[in-house]
Amino acid sequence: MTGGAGFIGSTYVRRHLAERPDDEIVVLDKLTYAGRRENLADAPPSQIEFAEADIADREAVARAVDGCDAVVNFAAESHVDRSIAEPDAFIQTDVFGTFVLLEAARDAGIRHLQISTDEVYGSIEEGSFTESSPIDPSSPYSASKAGGDLLVGAFQKTYGVDALIVRASNNYGPYQHPEKLIPLMVLNAMAGDRLPVYGDGMQVRNWLFTEDFASAIDVVLERGEAGEVYNVGGPEELPNIEVVKRILELTGRDESLIDHVGDRLGHDRRYSLSADRTEGLGWRARVHFDEGIERTVAWYRDNRDWWEPIRSGEYREYYERQYGTKLGS
Ligand code: NAD
Ligand code: DAU
Repeated sequence: MTGGAGFIGSTYVRRHLAERPDDEIVVLDKLTYAGRRENLADAPPSQIEFAEADIADREAVARAVDGCDAVVNFAAESHVDRSIAEPDAFIQTDVFGTFVLLEAARDAGIRHLQISTDEVYGSIEEGSFTESSPIDPSSPYSASKAGGDLLVGAFQKTYGVDALIVRASNNYGPYQHPEKLIPLMVLNAMAGDRLPVYGDGMQVRNWLFTEDFASAIDVVLERGEAGEVYNVGGPEELPNIEVVKRILELTGRDESLIDHVGDRLGHDRRYSLSADRTEGLGWRARVHFDEGIERTVAWYRDNRDWWEPIRSGEYREYYERQYGTKLGS
């Protein structure tokens, strides 16, 4: 598994190992600003081997895959706003890094499961994207992820690699980096800070609790077919402003904290996924937004030790660059 020290990757490792005590996972992670070794502290150490390395490093990747049954590639630069400001790392990791992993899976003769995103399809006004919808990415992030996906398809067709893709909608839950909408709003609301809503806040996202996504990944890893794509969407679609208002209720704050700031460049208006194909493999999302957001807010309230070091480090500089001139005092 690559990117196992990040938000979704660490949730997947914890859940997978709790359910399969005989499995062992090699986690390869570069520990960028988004990756933290502590995210795996609750996973049984005897079942994890950790390699601090870049997925674009051929030798490190070859060592890590030796003896593995499959590669699951979570590693990516994952934040759209950072991709708009500085796209280079996105191309390097999300495209070139995926290519290196695919070569390693081909050479080792093992399965490659690519963790991808609904953002590769672009925005949809009505209805839902299916796996045969065309790719039409809007941001450097989603274009890089689409590049990775195209390489997965090409390696499957050209070299017969046992490769497949899952594309998920917006995840939320414990351990998510505070640069993303939900944790950013929760932590700002808890501190009584301004809440920067981009544009009119009517952009719609399809929210998926991370534990539900983690369970879908195992279903696809075990039952999915090579060369296929599997969409994994959450049970609810909500405009951002509704999400922010729900967080205000749960943190006991009022709407005067909301600041409508300048919109994100190339901002996709709506994402919506049909998960019929993945549900056909036996998967169902179990956590509805009302429950998931309560659990998430409670986790951030109870885990100050986890987020305080993040909010005081590199994040402060990023936050100033991203929001400094946009926000009222
Ligand atoms: P994250 O930013 O929290 O974690 C990314 C992890 O990858 C970190 O541990 C980081 O250290 C590691 N990493 C980054 N570059 C690396 C490199 N070159 N080599 C090795 N490790 C590297 O991301 P996340 O939100 O957990 O997303 C995980 C995956 O799921 C990504 O591929 C993302 O595109 C995809 N995805 C995310 C969402 C979402 O809502 N967060 C939805 C759909 C798909
Ligand atoms: O859809 C799946 C994608 O979801 C993943 O592929 C990405 O890795 C993940 O970061 C996420 O991308 P989004 O851009 O949708 O997530 P983000 O949390 O950055 O923003 C969610 C929405 O909230 C989006 O419409 C932008 C808006 N937003 C975000 C931030 C950070 C704000 O209004 N204000 C903010 O400060």
